[in-house]
Amino acid sequence: MSLQAKIGPSILNADLSQLADESQKLLDNGADYLHLDVMDGHFVPNLTFGHPIVKCLRNKIKEAFFETHMMVSNPEQWISDMADAGVDQYTFHIEPVDDVSAVCRKVREAGMKVGLAIKPKTAVDVVEKYIEMADLVLIMTVEPGFGGQKFMEDMMPKVKHLRDNYPTLNIEVDGGVALNTIDCCAKAGANWIVSGTGVIKADDQGAVIKQLRGSVTSAIAEYSK
Ligand code: DX5
Ligand code: ZN
Repeated sequence: MSLQAKIGPSILNADLSQLADESQKLLDNGADYLHLDVMDGHFVPNLTFGHPIVKCLRNKIKEAFFETHMMVSNPEQWISDMADAGVDQYTFHIEPVDDVSAVCRKVREAGMKVGLAIKPKTAVDVVEKYIEMADLVLIMTVEPGFGGQKFMEDMMPKVKHLRDNYPTLNIEVDGGVALNTIDCCAKAGANWIVSGTGVIKADDQGAVIKQLRGSVTSAIAEYSK
């Protein structure tokens, strides 16, 4: 299947006391999936939420595609709980993991898609070894831990390298991606776009999501010629 542009807002900077309403609003405004940032206060210096909250959200929102971005030191530990909570894609950081292939297998056996994430200081060849086992690679464009940080344009060569070598791979970017930074992500080859504050804080979320998708769709058409 040909590459598709997908826009997945991160709800990290939304009003988390209204998680279901905020999520539904994003979906009504055209979000293709929800990017749920799970942090353990250990792999990153921040805490968010875990599978109990994801499960409650799933009870309210039956249809949407849920990606959990697992910023945790032991991603293996949460696989079955997240599958049970109704997660569709389990995207985890490979940096703290000894046996990445084994974790990929377990995620798949639990019925979820596999996403492999790397932090800005991790070289792209470290994740390249496991690409055959992954549905998606996430190139972080900020240090994970907080929303609202400045986009790191110097991560684009990693995206470009992957796109040049893996034309059908889903490549996701996350961190500081908004209307002012989308074009370079799109041209480098990213097709799954996480945007937190850029969408959440917008007056017209629908218009922003549409523009983000438009940028990616035109870039795909250009480099697929
Ligand atoms: C950062 C998270 C991101 C973040 C994105 O650690 O993984 O998903 O919330 O938010 P913005 O788009 O505001 O950088
Ligand atoms: Zn994230």
